Amino acid sequence: MAYQITYRSLAKKDIRPEDIDEILRISKKKNSLRGITGCLVFNQGYFIQILEGSEKYVREVYTTIKLDPRHSLVEILSEGEIEERLFDKWEMAYVNLSGGIETEKEQAIATSVAEIDAHSGKFRHTTKVFWYNVYSLFQEKGFYRS
Ligand SMILES: Cc1cc2nc3c(=O)[nH]c(=O)nc-3n(C[C@H](O)[C@H](O)[C@H](O)COP(=O)(O)O)c2cc1C
Repeated sequence: MAYQITYRSLAKKDIRPEDIDEILRISKKKNSLRGITGCLVFNQGYFIQILEGSEKYVREVYTTIKLDPRHSLVEILSEGEIEERLFDKWEMAYVNLSGGIETEKEQAIATSVAEIDAHSGKFRHTTKVFWYNVYSLFQEKGFYRS
C-alpha cells in the first residue's frame, strides 16, 4: 500500500519558468531519496500536485512544500491510501497546460480541472479522473516537458 496526497495551490504571481525548473530539480533529487513519485501540473497560475509514496514521507514532504513561499493557498484535494502508484516511473513528472490546449487529452484535463473547481476538490473520484487523464497524456506524448 502506498499513500497519496493531491493538493492545489496558487503560484506566486511573478513565478518564472526558471523557478519551476528549480522546483523540479530539487524535487527529483529529494524525492528519489525518499522513494516519492508524482506529478506537478501548472495551469492558469495554479499548481496541482500528486505525491505518492510511504505515508510518512508523503506527509513530511507535503509539510515542507506547504511552507514554500513560491505558492500560497495550499489546499488538499484528496489524500489516502492507494492500491498502486500511478506515476511510479517519475520522481516528479511535469505538465504545463498554460501553453494552450491542443489535443483531446489536454482538453480532458482542462475539463477535469474545471470539475475540481466546481466541486472545490472534495470528491476523490474527480481528482482520480484528473490524474488518469494527465497520465494518459504522458503515455501519448512520451516524456512531456514544455
Ligand atoms: C509547487 C511546488 C512543488 C514542490 N514539490 C516538491 C517535491 O515534490 N519534493 C520536494 O522535495 N520538494 C518540493 N518542493 C520544494 C520544497 O518546498 C522545498 O523547497 C524543497 O523540498 C527543499 O526543502 P529544504 O530546503 O527544507 O531541503 C516543491 C515546491 C513547490 C512550490
